[in-house]
Amino acid sequence: ADTSSTAKMEKDEKMYRRELENVHGVPLFWSTAEVWDQVENFQAKPDDLLIATYPKSGTTWISEIVDMIYNNGDVEKCKRDAIFNRVPFMELIIPGKINGLELLAQIPSPRLVKTHLPVQLLPVSFWENNCKIIYVARNAKDVAVSYFHFYQMAKMHPEPGTWDEYLEKFIAGKVAFGSWYDHVKGWWEKRKEKRILYLFYEDMKEDPECEIRKVLHFLEKDLKEEVLKKILQHTSFQEMKKNPTTNYTMMASSGMDHNVSPFMRKGIAGDWKNHFTEAQNKAFDADYEEKMKGSTLQFRVEI
Ligand code: A3P
Repeated sequence: ADTSSTAKMEKDEKMYRRELENVHGVPLFWSTAEVWDQVENFQAKPDDLLIATYPKSGTTWISEIVDMIYNNGDVEKCKRDAIFNRVPFMELIIPGKINGLELLAQIPSPRLVKTHLPVQLLPVSFWENNCKIIYVARNAKDVAVSYFHFYQMAKMHPEPGTWDEYLEKFIAGKVAFGSWYDHVKGWWEKRKEKRILYLFYEDMKEDPECEIRKVLHFLEKDLKEEVLKKILQHTSFQEMKKNPTTNYTMMASSGMDHNVSPFMRKGIAGDWKNHFTEAQNKAFDADYEEKMKGSTLQFRVEI
């Protein structure tokens, strides 16, 4: 490598794989923590639609579905840009690389906004403006597996370690955006008092048409049957995997390495069975019961 690319690699090295930083008790990317006051003061607009998820729960999938709805099923319009520019990730700020707040300031309304923040850290302007929110949750075991692969390929995360080490961190909530358990429960409680549509990845896998109809109802939109069919087809895993505007291959390769693990990895429910040992599964289940006790939230771990 020449000196400039070596220098660039060294710079990226400092930028990536750094430890997470605690923001009000939640581990976030160091670069987000650094400008937390800006995130906190983000000004939502009443017609913003927020897509909130714990990482690896189907964010990209629901984002593409909603952008297709907003564009009346026009595939070409949805190919105008990469998903991470069409639906900016609000709190993702990597100096010199990407800034969700700046991207959001540039796009026209009605905007689609992505966040992974737990409910208690959401900028208050979303509540003040009574914004509609779609939350997608996915079962903990598949999230842990998907997140482990993502930690390996997306370099803004610290080193994940072995699967066993990573799983322990996941259970302890010592991963980016904190505890899965607190996240899904926090947003679940909030849906009682706010305009939140709470969806499940497993339901979307089983009957995507039914879930898209829920989204349409929530957004008070009506689409022709043929448009709905087109959205279903365009947002299937196979289609999204080969579409460069949805599969994250348009993201700088210094930040994501699809050779390590593709962003569009498997797209199924139940892959955890290929990763959890019997001992891990037993320990996970016992801890799960403890953490989810008293919640009415139910997940399916296979379909
Ligand atoms: P796997 O790693 O289990 O394959 P997010 O967008 O929240 O980061 O979630 C990514 C996960 O959703 C990945 O899971 C990815 O493959 C899956 N995914 C993305 N698009 C999908 C689709 N259209 N259908 C099913 N799963 C999808």
